Amino acid sequence: MTIKTATFSVSSSTVEQCPPTTLPEYAFIGRSNVGKSSLINMLTNNGHLAKTSSTPGKTVLINHFLINSQWHLVDLPGYGFAKRSKKEQEKLEQMISGYILRREQMVNLFLLIDIRHEAQRIDMEFIEWLGENGIPFAIVFTKADKLSRAKANSNVTAFMKSLEERWEELPPHFITSSSTRQGRDELLQYIDDINRSL
Ligand code: GTP
Ligand code: MG
Repeated sequence: MTIKTATFSVSSSTVEQCPPTTLPEYAFIGRSNVGKSSLINMLTNNGHLAKTSSTPGKTVLINHFLINSQWHLVDLPGYGFAKRSKKEQEKLEQMISGYILRREQMVNLFLLIDIRHEAQRIDMEFIEWLGENGIPFAIVFTKADKLSRAKANSNVTAFMKSLEERWEELPPHFITSSSTRQGRDELLQYIDDINRSL
């Protein structure tokens, strides 16, 4: 799939405020700093579309980006950033869970995992919650450029194995880097296949 146009639509602080369209959308979630906003920029070939930062906690709203006038990419705030106040953390958790549970246009969620770390409890709990609520999702390993190919592959295998202990069927997974653009074609193909099946 070719990305012809990618434009910022709107930022919303609740799911009710999200744009009232029927276009399918694909959202990105994961721990703060895992690379959600960077991945959106990589996919759209626009380094400045979504705001990124080397300090965690940059994205604090639900951001819609319109792609080829046909579908949306959605950048969500990250979870698990310890330095937020409890009140702020609760507000973001409500924003995230409200969007994921109630946004009917969301046809697939991408859960991002930093490829350098072994399975973290917070991510496992989040995956558990997605399963309980029947949310369709795929796993995207990020920052593959930071490891050798062999180490990256063995980390992915270990992660998927730990999922296998709890899940009968494993979600699709992708290995990506926003620096080298690894995984871009595969992710766009996956989105295109879903769009065509709707
Ligand atoms: P929040 O909005 O705070 O939840 O973070 P985020 O998940 O949107 O992360 P963001 O895209 O802002 O990236 C965080 C940091 O990781 C930035 O310094 C990025 O440059 C860096 N980064 C993201 N993806 C990659 C990658 O694939 N490779 C490398 N080397 N760095 C990356
Ligand atoms: Mg972000």
